[in-house]
Amino acid sequence: MSQDVIMLGIESSCDETAAAVVRNGREVLSNVISSQIDIHTLYGGVVPEIASRKHVERVNQVIEEALSEASVSLQDITAVSVTYGPGLVGALLVGVGTAKALAYGLHKPLVGVHHIEGHIAANYIEHPELEPPFLCLVVSGGHTHLVRVEEYNKFQIIGCTHDDAAGEAFDKVARAIGLGYPGGPKVDRLAREGNPHAIEFPRAKVGGSELDFSFSGLKSAVLNYLNGCRMKGEEIHAADVAASFQQAVVDVLVDRTVRGARKLGETKIAVAGGVAANSALRRAMEQACQEEHLTLYHPSPVYCTDNGAMIGVQGYYEYMAGIRHGLDLNAVPSLAIGQRGCL
Ligand code: KG4
Ligand code: ZN
Repeated sequence: MSQDVIMLGIESSCDETAAAVVRNGREVLSNVISSQIDIHTLYGGVVPEIASRKHVERVNQVIEEALSEASVSLQDITAVSVTYGPGLVGALLVGVGTAKALAYGLHKPLVGVHHIEGHIAANYIEHPELEPPFLCLVVSGGHTHLVRVEEYNKFQIIGCTHDDAAGEAFDKVARAIGLGYPGGPKVDRLAREGNPHAIEFPRAKVGGSELDFSFSGLKSAVLNYLNGCRMKGEEIHAADVAASFQQAVVDVLVDRTVRGARKLGETKIAVAGGVAANSALRRAMEQACQEEHLTLYHPSPVYCTDNGAMIGVQGYYEYMAGIRHGLDLNAVPSLAIGQRGCL
């Protein structure tokens, strides 16, 4: 084991306290996730103050479980990697503070990881053949980006949302049709019983770039549709609304990805982030990539949503590139992709 790079990955940017042990960047020895969904469900969304407090309660135990499942001791760890942004500042600080304490106490290197770069890296876990360059559609609760992954730690954003992120739209529409938090998986499930062509919701185009996204108009169209039905006393078929909304999101995500691939001449496509777990998006992407002769990569659902393994994987590539952070590493809530405040 001494030749191996054993990375501890810690993630606490939103509502999952997560830790994982990753060997040589590709092999996940453990991946422990403590979700706070139950408590935030009571409030209809993530309450930042509660999220921070729950991370404090859980983080040490989650790390201990990750080490024990991987059968490694703290001394076996080569380095500690941690999400330092973007995310909720109080939540990020718990992971960052814990990682700093471990790195200091163990005299091990500390590697800060960008959360979205971690999401992208989740694709390496189950696809040993995948290497940059490739095009990645990143769709999470806070981000919707089309990213050209040029090298393991070199990224170029070629498209982004002008307003809501895709996951945010799922969460807001879920709330409007009474499904509650977390919206994405609930819309996904309900949509299976609905007709995706029942209601024609808009597929927004953004002036200026054919690779950008906009979901706020779609969200408003769904809200207007629901209000219209209520005012006219018409029955709302929630499954049809969910399926038609989801279809509109999926159509736009697939369209921009295919355009991006054509424009850049990319042949390898990856998807990442919580919304990448969406079953309709996965099906539509598979079909489009087949038609366009593109090779599609996507992580299993557990690696799409927030987890420590993705941070351990990206942490490995940062570590191998010589990136080290000092004990002054801070949480950066709006950290831009590709931007590093490292030593
Ligand atoms: O990547 P993630 O776990 O956290 C962020 O970095 O934001 O993504 C969470 C988002 C939420 O908006 C959630 O509703 C959405 O991903 N999501 C889904 C599905 N699973 C999670 N959206 C659509 N379909 C799903 N199956
Ligand atoms: Zn995330």
